[in-house]
Amino acid sequence: MNLNRNDLCWCGSGVKYKKCHIGFDEKLNSLMEQGFHVPPREIIKTKEQIEGIRKSGEINTAVLDLVGKNIKEGMTTEEIDKLVYDYTISQGAVPATLNFEGYPKSLCTSINNEVCHGIPSEDVILKNGDIVNVDVSTILNGYYSDASRMFIIGEASEDARKLVEVSKECLYKGIEAVKPWGFLDDVGAAIQEHAEKHGYSVVRDFGGHGIGLEFHEEPFVAHHGKRGEGMILVPGMVFTIEPMINAGSYEIVVDSNDNWTVLTEDGSLSSQWEHTILVTEDGVELITW
Ligand code: MF3
Ligand code: CO
Repeated sequence: MNLNRNDLCWCGSGVKYKKCHIGFDEKLNSLMEQGFHVPPREIIKTKEQIEGIRKSGEINTAVLDLVGKNIKEGMTTEEIDKLVYDYTISQGAVPATLNFEGYPKSLCTSINNEVCHGIPSEDVILKNGDIVNVDVSTILNGYYSDASRMFIIGEASEDARKLVEVSKECLYKGIEAVKPWGFLDDVGAAIQEHAEKHGYSVVRDFGGHGIGLEFHEEPFVAHHGKRGEGMILVPGMVFTIEPMINAGSYEIVVDSNDNWTVLTEDGSLSSQWEHTILVTEDGVELITW
């Protein structure tokens, strides 16, 4: 799309290009010419799209709050699924995982040595000492959001509680590393540094992702890496940060019984927290919280 200075800007602001994103595009072009990896325009959200994604994130956050109020020992993960489905639908939204590539449920519930993508089931009963990742994603008016939290059922071991705490810190270290015109891999580097400082490892085979108009968009967000590398982050990008932190090795296996549930290869505990974030002119905004 080649715009003239007096055309309306591509971002939908209703303002002339020369008064809007022209400087932004020039900066991106110049970075591209210098060999940096710049985001494609399709993943840079307009004001209107951001507003829609924010509303989706509000509902997603309310769903997780509702789970937090209700989750308890003796409950099945199927009951959580029902709670999430009913509430999401009551808000005029749809759970994004439901029927996504054949996935059968309204959220993922991953317990102890499960890394992610655990499927709610009436056969899975939460028990004292479990650490559970509840991963919820919402579509509202076509706009996607995605977040997850850990819940500790009753009294967990000291080791389990520490893993849950440090993995949450990892998420926030990643979020703090998000800077407009900074590098995507700074996010992974900050996460990896914090996890490894505590003797933990960072799962490599799954990462965060661009999100907003679709469930999974560019870029892939690695939770490990080197500072100063990867895609340039620019205002208007929306993506998830969702580090999966293992107490043992970072190797994973997919459960052959359901072909979804991801487990630690060595049977060690795993913990994950996730937010959807927006890169802004001066930093970062949480789309979920
Ligand atoms: N919330 C997960 C993610 O981060 C959902 C994965 S898709 C599913 O992308 F089908 F496994 F649920
Ligand atoms: Co996600």
